[in-house]
Amino acid sequence: MNNIFYPNEEQFQNSPIPNMETYRGLVSDFEKDYEGTWAKFADEKIDWFKPYDKVLDESNAPFYKWFSGGEMNVAHQCVDRHLATKKNKAAIIFEGDNGDQQVLTYRELAYEVNKTANMFKNEFGIQKGDRVVIYMPMIPEAAVSMLACAKIGAIHSIVFGGFSAEALRDRIIDAEAKLVVTSDGAYRKGKPYMLKPVVDKALESGCECVKKVCIVERNGEDITWVAGRDYAYNELIKSQSPKCDAELMESEDPLFLLYTSGSTGKPKGVQHSSAGYILWAQMTMEWVFDVKENDTYWCTADIGWITGHTYIVYGPLAAGATTVMFEGVPTFPDAGRCWKMVEEYQINQFYTAPTAIRLLHKMGEDEPSKYDLSSLRVLGTVGEPIDPPAWKWYYEQVGNSNCSIVDTYWQTETGGHVVSPLPAATPIKPACATFPLPGISAEVIEEDGTPTPVGEKGFMCITKPWPSMIRNIWNDSERFKKSYFGDCKKDGQPVYFSGDGAMIDEEGYITITGRTDDVINVSGHRMGTAEVEAAIKKHDNVASVAVVGKPHEIKGEGIFAYIVLKSVPMEHKDEIADELELMKEINGIIKAEIGAIALCDAMAFVPDLPKTRSGKIMRRILRSIVKGEAITQDTSTLEDPSIVGTIESIVNNDV
Ligand code: WTA
Repeated sequence: MNNIFYPNEEQFQNSPIPNMETYRGLVSDFEKDYEGTWAKFADEKIDWFKPYDKVLDESNAPFYKWFSGGEMNVAHQCVDRHLATKKNKAAIIFEGDNGDQQVLTYRELAYEVNKTANMFKNEFGIQKGDRVVIYMPMIPEAAVSMLACAKIGAIHSIVFGGFSAEALRDRIIDAEAKLVVTSDGAYRKGKPYMLKPVVDKALESGCECVKKVCIVERNGEDITWVAGRDYAYNELIKSQSPKCDAELMESEDPLFLLYTSGSTGKPKGVQHSSAGYILWAQMTMEWVFDVKENDTYWCTADIGWITGHTYIVYGPLAAGATTVMFEGVPTFPDAGRCWKMVEEYQINQFYTAPTAIRLLHKMGEDEPSKYDLSSLRVLGTVGEPIDPPAWKWYYEQVGNSNCSIVDTYWQTETGGHVVSPLPAATPIKPACATFPLPGISAEVIEEDGTPTPVGEKGFMCITKPWPSMIRNIWNDSERFKKSYFGDCKKDGQPVYFSGDGAMIDEEGYITITGRTDDVINVSGHRMGTAEVEAAIKKHDNVASVAVVGKPHEIKGEGIFAYIVLKSVPMEHKDEIADELELMKEINGIIKAEIGAIALCDAMAFVPDLPKTRSGKIMRRILRSIVKGEAITQDTSTLEDPSIVGTIESIVNNDV
């Protein structure tokens, strides 16, 4: 598919960026006056309590500051300021796994946020700057808790509900959280599942920082209560006042931390700011999704990931939109669930991940045609490269060849979209993230800053600071500098490197080619190989291990582990009687240490790993083997070159 797809003009009236001319005009405004153009948007979009003194402070690069001296509040920006014009508009439409529905108008949302903020303050002693861990399912109280933190200036750190007690504990300790907000559990595929026991287990093993746990009732299942520590949200909320003044937040005050995987075993607490973050969340919401006053927008992500932060809660609400929150999974009760919801709520923008698109495609080629999907205008994808067959199905079957597909490239660290089509303007090439958004200096370059030649793989960098960029790694400024500003330079100055490779074509279209580091993208979720390896090494019989990504039909990438055992000197897998048992044990450890999202799809028990004489594992060889590619690397520098053939034959029999 090399065609270009042009936006259907009738679908897009009065768009903020209606055509490429406007796009190029904006790009040139930023080129001519970078700070002035950002200032113009900041003045127009943000309801400042006190004006800022300086647009961009580069004096302590790469610890950039935006809109210094300004005061505002993100909860005010997302909720309170809309009350004058939209108090009865739906802010959040919730649909439960079992189909139960709840609508919160902006007025109701303000009421709930204020009561929750007062509860956090008065009952749990939470103050500005305190960290609150939110370990919750996709229910409205999760969004309310985020906004309640923002209202009083507490820094939230959401931990995805699929993470294990160990993973939760590590994140609580690193953030030194005072309060954990959770629920008894929730529903998934028609059945209740539990979260509170995971919190109990995490807190049993050394989280002295946590003083209180606040529990929302969702599924009503039995849970244990620790006196003096555990409190029922639904009880305490009743006596709280619905009035709460917004804390005055300086632009750079942290809004939240979100832990993400990196190339070491320890997750990074990505720290975001208040003003810069919300400005870009709102602008991209308006530009990339083209949300109109009467639209209903639905993003299927989980609030445990950045997509849920920026494009379920903060972006849509800052833009005054109606956002749908869904507790369930796209395949329950059947593969028509999403399309049924699109029809019922008359969804105008639908945003999901390629992994979900591939799965739904596989489960029912023409399932979408059974529903009226004519309300749809914009279809979004995020999290991993989308493959052309999935793109085509999304475009033709879901979008009826009448919607714009926005393949949005961004990361936890970028806060919001950085490379993406604009639905009314950009001529789209399938499976391509197209152009940098105005204001974002995204460039495909070599390490020294020279542009990568057309058609070759280079580094996806952002060569100027932007308002919604990561501010720091919590507790680890050195790692922040090294992780993002250590690899590429432009004009001699370190620039932000995303960790992704990319390619640019002769017309300037950018295609993301995937991670260049040891991060695997499993179903659009970032998984550090080192994290998985650290878990596997906890098995008594594991001597060494190397984890790589293996292409997977639905997940994009699956996790594949090469394992050397201590006590079974293996030549071939047939010699291990209990290999399956071993795999179960190892996956059991991964589940306990990280969570089910990090389970290995396959393992190969090998006699050794390909190591250089200095002991470095040659992962590229291991990646080639699992992909069935010819080994092009020079193996003569290996300690034992013959190991490559041995591993190949084990894997090829195995897989
Ligand atoms: C990948 C998710 C190709 C990329 C918002 C990035 C993508 C990582 C795309 C960030 C896309 C995200 N095309 N790859 N449209 N969007 N990625 O932090 O490898 O969970 O570095 O943020 O996902 O994952 P994260």
